[in-house]
Amino acid sequence: MNFLDLVKKRQSSRHYLPKNVDREIIDRCVEAARLAPSACNSQPWKFIIIDNPEKKDELADAAFSGIYSLCTFVKKAPVIVVVITEKSSYAARVGAFLKNIQYSLIDIGIACEHFVLQAAEEGVGTCMIGWFSEKKVKKVLNLSKSVKIDMLISMGYPENNEVRKKTRKPIEEVREFI
Ligand SMILES: Cc1cc2nc3c(=O)[nH]c(=O)nc-3n(C[C@H](O)[C@H](O)[C@H](O)COP(=O)(O)O)c2cc1C
Repeated sequence: MNFLDLVKKRQSSRHYLPKNVDREIIDRCVEAARLAPSACNSQPWKFIIIDNPEKKDELADAAFSGIYSLCTFVKKAPVIVVVITEKSSYAARVGAFLKNIQYSLIDIGIACEHFVLQAAEEGVGTCMIGWFSEKKVKKVLNLSKSVKIDMLISMGYPENNEVRKKTRKPIEEVREFI
């Protein structure tokens, strides 16, 4: 598929069919994420894939309760990817300190976009989720308090494959040639 066509095809899917996603497909998405660029090649990420139905339900119930219940649609997704933001390399941390930029978040964003684009290529729907209880996700997965989780990705075959019109600022507003 032409790259721009793939970019246009990718959209946040919030309604999923009750159909499993093969681990080979998930692995290709992780592979696309693994190959993403990162500051000083730090690769500050880890992807925990929850595709066991009982564990996935337990995680979704915990992550999306209370003020986070806006995203309860994730409960219907057969797969939840927990993206762990790891500590960047020493060089990247020095650069981040001097520039006052958290490069690891940029790195995670790029890796997650690689992930969801590969999923779109495979016909699998995804939604990046930033609104969840990090504390409860750690509890369900028995992760230490010091672990940083900035993003979840829900994943599954979309109920509807129709590509929605994208709501975006016009190109003239976001681009300037000098
Ligand atoms: C960092 C980030 C966090 C997001 N968090 C959520 C979220 O918590 N819940 C949700 O439904 N969508 C979330 N989204 C999806 C955006 O709402 C969506 O990408 C945007 O509205 C554009 O729509 P599209 O993805 O269908 O093109 C998030 C996207 C990004 C990049």
